[in-house]
Amino acid sequence: MENNLVTTAYIVASALFILSLAGLSQPETAKRGNLLGILGMAIAFAATAAISQGYPIQIGSIGLGVLIGVLAASRVAMTDMPEMVALLNSFVGLAAVLVGFAEYLQPSAALSGGDVIVHRVEIYIGVFIGIVTFTGSMIAVAKLRGWVPSRAVLLPARHVLTLGMLGAIAALGVPFLTAIGDMPMIALGAMTAIAGIFGIVIVMAIGGADMAVVISLLNSYSGLASAAAGFMLNNDLLIITGALVGSSGAILSYIMCKGMNRSFINVVLGGFGETASGTVKSAAIEGSATSTTTGEVVDLLANAQSVVIVPGYGMAVAQAQHAVAEITRLLRGQGKQVRFGIHPVAGRMPGHMNVLLAEANVPYDIVLEMDEINDDLTATDVVLVVGANDTVNPSAKYDPNSPIAGMPVMEVWEASTVVVLKRGMSSGYAGVENPLFFNDNTLMLFGDAKTNVNGILAQLSTTNAPAPALAAA
Ligand code: TAP
Repeated sequence: MENNLVTTAYIVASALFILSLAGLSQPETAKRGNLLGILGMAIAFAATAAISQGYPIQIGSIGLGVLIGVLAASRVAMTDMPEMVALLNSFVGLAAVLVGFAEYLQPSAALSGGDVIVHRVEIYIGVFIGIVTFTGSMIAVAKLRGWVPSRAVLLPARHVLTLGMLGAIAALGVPFLTAIGDMPMIALGAMTAIAGIFGIVIVMAIGGADMAVVISLLNSYSGLASAAAGFMLNNDLLIITGALVGSSGAILSYIMCKGMNRSFINVVLGGFGETASGTVKSAAIEGSATSTTTGEVVDLLANAQSVVIVPGYGMAVAQAQHAVAEITRLLRGQGKQVRFGIHPVAGRMPGHMNVLLAEANVPYDIVLEMDEINDDLTATDVVLVVGANDTVNPSAKYDPNSPIAGMPVMEVWEASTVVVLKRGMSSGYAGVENPLFFNDNTLMLFGDAKTNVNGILAQLSTTNAPAPALAAA
């Protein structure tokens, strides 16, 4: 009876996780998707705790985990979210490793004959995926936080090294599966150490703009690690949730690779813009940048009929989205066409810009994907680039030697005038210089994006009657 109830609870939780993913695919339904996921997880917790021995320990550890999770998630800044996601991925990997060792030392079910071998295969694969996820994610956190260089770090002869490590990992599987006495434990420990180094080496070799794909790839690995833990523990819900995370992470990585015109293999074999001998040099940039003022930008906007706003990571850092939304409301109130153009990897996490604009109540129907708006930029009077850099870099299109050559970008230079809001001339995440800043039709509005957008807003407001509500314009 108890088992039937738990099975039913697991089926309901799995259905809620699937509905949650479906909800998360659209900004309009994302909140509902999140709530369904939380409900599914609560049901899963309750059902698992109900069948566990040591009930108080389960409740205590779940309670402590929930408390730490809620505190961490509510305090983390939006711009630090990718690090948080990478850190959480690493915990999943570490959990799979610990479950693997625990299952080897004290199997949760009595097994005999061929089942012992099958169980050991599950342990070996689970520990391997788990440790690669753990060390790889820790390096990703270190790269995103700038504790280690964010560029690709390539070891000499690294392909030979990684192949050697993979060979050793495969070879150690033989004593783990067949030997007796202490040997299997020694083999499992040695494999864990080598696979841990393997995870470090492969993620160190990936850098620059490719880090976006790596985070979602590690997310997918963390799903595989939980599925592996599910097989070890014979827990169907873990297998289902692991498969959902694994496949959705893989699909997201594919979409991002497509958005950056990169192949999976290229990313994993690594080194965006790097060779063993050093960084590829892009074409030298000539000319000088023209700076402008908020007053000039207000005049430009006053004379424009069509405006496109292209946000990037700098808008998130400056938290300029609310002021940007207010400008949008004012300009639309004057009958101008104002739209947003979103690059698939703008910011530091998938959908970063969409989340910020939704938070500022910008209507979804004026927020367009890069492919939907790129062709319209030729007929656009003014493009405001708010804290974007790599995603508007023309060298991706025109300089075959550029480290980001081939990556589709927002072709903002096609507009009559481009205004770039950033603090100085520094490069973006990929560390590549941007010739856009030196174009004749580009004006640089230097300074913090929020301060400058607020400046533009203040001047626009003084010349305006009260504007209608944003959504109604
Ligand atoms: P970036 O190329 O990273 O450029 C952001 C720009 O914002 C910087 O050049 C910086 O210039 C400016 N900035 C920073 N703080 C600012 C502030 N307070 N006010 C005004 N400007 C400010 O941004 P992007 O175009 O969004 O491109 C994203 C990059 O991150 C891509 O290379 C992408 O591959 C990578 N990446 C993306 C993700 C995901 S999933 N989206 C994950 C990891 C990495 P100043 O310092 O001169 O102000």
